[in-house]
Amino acid sequence: MEINWDLPKMVHKSYAPLFRSSARYISIKGSRGSGKSEAVARKVIFDIMTKPYVNWLVLRRYANTNRQSTYALIEKVANVMQVAFLFQFNSSLPEITYKPTGQKIIFRGLDKPLSITSISVKTGNLCREWAEEAYQIELEESFDTVDESLRGKIDDPDGFYQTVITFNPWNENHWLKHRFFDEDTKQSGTLSYTTTYKDNPFLDDGYIKKLKEMLITNPRRAKVAVLGEWGVSEGLVFDNFDVVDFNINEKVQKIGKTYHGMDFGFTHDPTTLPSSIYDAKTNELWIYGELYRTGLLTSQIVNEIRNRKLTAAVIHADAANPMAIAELRNKGIRRIRAAKKGPDSIELGLSFMQSLKIHIHPSCEHTIEEFNTYTFDRDKSGKWLNKPVDANNHIIDALRYSLEDLYTKSLKNSDGNIKQQSNYIKQLGL
Ligand SMILES: Nc1ncnc2c1ncn2[C@@H]1O[C@H](COP(=O)(O)OP(=O)(O)OP(=O)(O)O)[C@@H](O)[C@H]1O
Ligand SMILES: [Mg+2]
Repeated sequence: MEINWDLPKMVHKSYAPLFRSSARYISIKGSRGSGKSEAVARKVIFDIMTKPYVNWLVLRRYANTNRQSTYALIEKVANVMQVAFLFQFNSSLPEITYKPTGQKIIFRGLDKPLSITSISVKTGNLCREWAEEAYQIELEESFDTVDESLRGKIDDPDGFYQTVITFNPWNENHWLKHRFFDEDTKQSGTLSYTTTYKDNPFLDDGYIKKLKEMLITNPRRAKVAVLGEWGVSEGLVFDNFDVVDFNINEKVQKIGKTYHGMDFGFTHDPTTLPSSIYDAKTNELWIYGELYRTGLLTSQIVNEIRNRKLTAAVIHADAANPMAIAELRNKGIRRIRAAKKGPDSIELGLSFMQSLKIHIHPSCEHTIEEFNTYTFDRDKSGKWLNKPVDANNHIIDALRYSLEDLYTKSLKNSDGNIKQQSNYIKQLGL
């Protein structure tokens, strides 16, 4: 079938290299809503339809996130491009087949590495990979293992291998930076660049306005979310966390004690429910679960709590919302309670959390993002203040509530005085 590929209509010109370059790696970091995912989804279809040897591996950190993100997007884009009738969509696998030739778009997750090494295709070669939301891939080695499965001679004389990597650059300490961006260390054959909302002519004005507001209200987060630049660690409230994979069931069984907190939101702010395990022997906190969603009604929150099997768990919730707490209790969440409020409760809670070794499970993507953007405030002259910016702390607030019994205990000595001092000032060297 002859299709008139009108690239300038399909994508902004900053994404032209996706369609023209034969670089081995194309790595695009970018702000929120810069058009990365939409552009690569178009490339997935374009490459399949114009290059008969191409089969795609679409990769995410967790296999079960593909259906609602990459798979749904590619299906949507095929419809927008009016070529969907040429494809067979199997959403249960998920998998997409190009009917004229049998070329395939295969979806996998790094949590199931064996299902990747065993991929075989009927026609052409598995020679394209899209690592979407690659910031979630915490280990460079696991990326390499998959990338190495793209190998062998390509049947087409003009054929080439290509891996496309897209992500938001939450922190400059990520392996993606030296691997694909730093001039002196980056992999040869790499084309890497940055896109922002300015590279996406399809955004609505309201969205752009919100992003621009963030530049003023939360410049630290805006650096990444609006400008697409690497997040920096200076001024972070927490520098005591890492992202590591661990076996959640094993940890819960071994250590036993789990903690749950809830912050309420609706239109703009999410309702959150972080879950963690505290190991008193080693002073380690293992964050293993998160709910993070806007627009949740009380009945939907109940369902989320049920799905997590937390109906009988103690949940420390935001005291500013007594009606939500009462409603949840009324609906059977018996042990939800208002977190205590004291004059110094925020500072005490945060300094306790700063004293821990915090490990975040890679599946907790919003938790990771908040820990990477939760910073101290600065005054007008740029001097660090002793107080965090009160923004993007929906998970962190709920986590703090959840741990309150630990720090209100640990912080009081025999005469009831606060023993431990805040780490804020110490940490900043003030
Ligand atoms: N080529 C395009 N054609 C039509 N609409 C587009 C296109 N690119 C982007 N959009 C619109 O802009 C929105 C944001 O684009 P997209 O989701 O690709 O951004 P992103 O860079 O992947 O953002 P994030 O970093 O948050 O994942 C899309 O939901 C879509 O409405
Ligand atoms: Mg995206």
